[in-house]
Amino acid sequence: MGFHTFPVERADQLDDPARYRFCSLEELVYALDLTPTDTVLDIGAGTGFYTLGVAPHAETTIGLDIQHRMAEHLMDRDDRPPDVSPVVAGTDALPLADGTVDVAFSTMTFHEYSTAQSHAELHRVLRPDGRLVAVDWRRDGTGEDGPSLEERFSLEEAVSQLQGAGFHILRAESRPETYLLTARPR
Ligand SMILES: C[S@@+](CC[C@H](N)C(=O)[O-])C[C@H]1O[C@@H](n2cnc3c(N)ncnc32)[C@H](O)[C@@H]1O
Repeated sequence: MGFHTFPVERADQLDDPARYRFCSLEELVYALDLTPTDTVLDIGAGTGFYTLGVAPHAETTIGLDIQHRMAEHLMDRDDRPPDVSPVVAGTDALPLADGTVDVAFSTMTFHEYSTAQSHAELHRVLRPDGRLVAVDWRRDGTGEDGPSLEERFSLEEAVSQLQGAGFHILRAESRPETYLLTARPR
C-alpha cells in the first residue's frame, strides 16, 4: 500500500486553481465541519494549496509533509498566517502527542501515505471524537488528470484499509474522478 511521493520539482502544479474542479475549497471546508478551537492536521500538505484556505476555520493548522522542500514552500509563502505550522515528518511516525488532533485531512494524498503504520499513527493522534477526511483520486476514474489508475485505490479499498485500522466510516462517496471519506477513530 502507498505509492510514489509527488515530486517536489512539480510543486508549482499544486498551486493551479484549476485543481478546484476536483475538490473545491468550499466543499472541503464543509466536509471538515470545523469549529474555531480545532487543531487541524493537513496530511501531505504540499505547498499549502488547501492548508491556507482551511486555516481560517480552525485555531491551529499543522501542514505535515514528508519532503523538506515541500515544507519550505509552505514556510516561505507570504500569505502563511502564524497559526499554520509546517512540520516535516512522515505519517508513519507522527511527531504529535496522542489525542491532540481534532480533524486530520488529506487532499489527493491518501494513495501516497496509506499504510497500516500510517493509519495506526493517525488513529493515535486523533481525539476519540475526532475525524479523518480524505479526498483522493478514484481507481475507476478516467486517469486523464492526477496519478495513473494503477497508483490509486478504489473507494472500497480505502474504506477497507481504514476499517482495518479501527476507524468507523461516517461518509464514503464516489464523485466524478475522486472519492470523499470521513472516518472516526472509534
Ligand atoms: C499529490 S501532493 C498533494 C499536496 C496537497 N495535499 C494538495 O492537495 O495540494 C502529495 C503530498 O503528500 C506528501 N506525502 C506523501 N506521502 C507522505 C507521507 N507518508 N507523510 C507525509 N507527507 C507525505 C508529498 O510529499 C506531497 O507533498
